[in-house]
Amino acid sequence: MQPTFTRRHLLGIRELNAGEITHLLDTAETFREVSKRQIKKVPALRGRTVINLFFEPSTRTRTSFEIAAKRLSADAVNVSVSTSSVSKGETLLDTARNLEAMAPDCIVIRHSSAGAPQHLARMTNAPIINAGDGAHEHPTQALLDALTIREYKGRIEGLKVAIVGDILHSRVARSNIYLLTKLGANVSIGGPGTLVPGEFAELVDNGLRVERHFQDAIDGADVVMILRIQRERQDAAFFPSMREYAVHYGLQPRHLDRAAPDAIVMHPGPMNRGVEISSEIADGSRSLILDQVTNGVAVRMAVLYLLAGGPSEEPTETTAPVKKQKRERK
Ligand code: CP
Repeated sequence: MQPTFTRRHLLGIRELNAGEITHLLDTAETFREVSKRQIKKVPALRGRTVINLFFEPSTRTRTSFEIAAKRLSADAVNVSVSTSSVSKGETLLDTARNLEAMAPDCIVIRHSSAGAPQHLARMTNAPIINAGDGAHEHPTQALLDALTIREYKGRIEGLKVAIVGDILHSRVARSNIYLLTKLGANVSIGGPGTLVPGEFAELVDNGLRVERHFQDAIDGADVVMILRIQRERQDAAFFPSMREYAVHYGLQPRHLDRAAPDAIVMHPGPMNRGVEISSEIADGSRSLILDQVTNGVAVRMAVLYLLAGGPSEEPTETTAPVKKQKRERK
């Protein structure tokens, strides 16, 4: 029987099972081809509306959700939080309820508070997609990373994946740890001790190793995923200086020499060049950083298609006027 995706929201990878993740990846694979066409558009979401509500800066995620919606023929609306009524003190929930009153088929939200998308999913009726919440999860990033690994390695099961850098503050790390271990990868995490807490091993039942030394995580890895130092979330001195971080934990060719000979390098972006990754690696032949961005469009097309698609309700002239009813509140 074909696996299906019947969820109303995409809030995180943690709650998904391997079949749902694989279904999302397979759907994304079918959409990858649309972006290679001369006319990059299919009518799948014609007449649907997607709202992007980003409370934190974004280049890749926000743009690719907008492009994904447009390639599916949906109407994409970007709410600029700095010029919205949020700046007058309107709450997140009131903002979302007012947007919901305009009948979108889906709201994509990024917020600095972990749990903000889950809150909206409970309190509103619109399908909610988490585009990154605090240091909690970034599910579409993990999906696009997995799609990229599958594209270049042909599988995920049995691969050794090293995730190195600022694990503590990284929603990308959490979502990837959940996803990759659910699909049978062996994940090693490493970085400065202050940024790689031992309790990460408790995040998953198996398939995760917490290494004390950065290089130990990379040794023999098929995939090396390097994370950004999240300057905006460093509320304490986790390491002495950026310069020292670069010297001890910046990914250099000598580190990769001990990975698998055909190891690939990934980074979710934005990169701090010369800090967590050298330009030689970022722009080198093993780097798939821009392939990740390309796959982000296909993944977001798949997620929008599966969540904002729903049954089509073409209005007909015989449709009886609907009696006005009080809005149902959750
Ligand atoms: N990877 C990622 O989330 O990038 P943006 O912050 O630019 O969206």
